Amino acid sequence: MTLEGKKIIVGLTGGIACYKIPYLVRFLTGQGAEVRVIMTQAATEFITPLTLETVSGNPVATELFPDSKFISTRHIELAQWPDVIVVAPATANFMGKTASGISDDLLTTVICATARPVIIAPAMNPQMWLNKITRKNYTFLKEMGYLFIDPDEGDTACGDRGVGRMAEPDKIFKYVEAFLTKASKKKVLTGKKLLITAGPTRENLDPVRYLTNRSSGKMGYALAEAARELGADVTLISGPVALKPPTGARIIWVETTGEMYQAVKKEFPRFDWLVMAAAPADFTPSKKTGQKIKKERQPIKLEMTTTVDILKQMGAVKKKNQLLVGFALETENGLNNARKKLQAKNLDLIVLNDISDEGAGFEHDTNKVTLLCPGHKKAVTWPLMTKSDLAFKLLEFIANLS
Ligand SMILES: Cc1cc2nc3c(=O)[nH]c(=O)nc-3n(C[C@H](O)[C@H](O)[C@H](O)COP(=O)(O)O)c2cc1C
Repeated sequence: MTLEGKKIIVGLTGGIACYKIPYLVRFLTGQGAEVRVIMTQAATEFITPLTLETVSGNPVATELFPDSKFISTRHIELAQWPDVIVVAPATANFMGKTASGISDDLLTTVICATARPVIIAPAMNPQMWLNKITRKNYTFLKEMGYLFIDPDEGDTACGDRGVGRMAEPDKIFKYVEAFLTKASKKKVLTGKKLLITAGPTRENLDPVRYLTNRSSGKMGYALAEAARELGADVTLISGPVALKPPTGARIIWVETTGEMYQAVKKEFPRFDWLVMAAAPADFTPSKKTGQKIKKERQPIKLEMTTTVDILKQMGAVKKKNQLLVGFALETENGLNNARKKLQAKNLDLIVLNDISDEGAGFEHDTNKVTLLCPGHKKAVTWPLMTKSDLAFKLLEFIANLS
């Protein structure tokens, strides 16, 4: 029971996706959570409070000023009660009101009065989702710290196709479960200093072109985010990526493998762990030209030299109290090559992703890895999981090595 003892408010607003919410409530209560439901008037047009009372096992609140019942400041009690509030489906109207601080019904008043995290799963017609005011409200609410489970693309109830369909209840459930599990994780890395590298590097060919690889940086960023949540002091050395910087981590931006090497070399002595999740380019053009290479110059031959092997260099200078973790991405003989690297580079752990595995490696949000360390004869393979889950599991594994 992953949600034992957790208290969750599920807020429903007036969209057709209300019919899916009993499934979400069942998933949450099925894992031990206590769920209380708030519905807007519009939501009650789509599904009855009775259904949600039955699946949640609690009375459903719909009104800010119900007749003849003693309610006192129920909105404040509701705002302070949960560990998290999930609004699903969230209408364009709800987003607009929340972004403007309007509190003219029970749900928006509770949202305004709460200090708890709020997760919003919007659902609407694709044009409503694209509406400039909705876009502005979405961006603003995100900036204000509201969390979003973005709508999916597909057919909507109105018959239009596009982005706007509410994320499926199992996806919302998994998000909430991961969120609450992470929030209750102990700060096991407090006092530890972690240096993490992420992303690709670029090797310039001429002033306008460069060579790079498919690394998205997602694994390294997930590690930095997880390490921060576990209490570590994190410095992230990042190549060029299109990701939001992890909250609370110091970032050093680099472009080439040479720059990444200089940054790692300078920083490593004062860190406890170095986790090299980056994919620095292994080759660089032997000659750099100051001018753009002309198309007319045929044939074009590129002479390449190898770049500095950052992991190997760090393995050579690593002190006894430092841990060095490398990542390997192989297209053939993965295990044998990873075992060789582990030894040759003096690593404490090598994490092998095999890109032949569907959903693993570059660009994906999921990864499947095999771990090898000098003390363990057998390699350990973990199942496919999100990079965020993997990051937490991996950091826990590394903590047990030290
Ligand atoms: C059949 C029907 C379906 C609707 N579906 C949605 C929807 O999926 N998303 C949305 O933003 N509004 C939808 N609306 C409009 C909202 O119900 C309307 O804006 C309402 O004022 C929302 O109130 P609330 O945000 O307080 O729940 C729908 C309206 C109707 C009549």
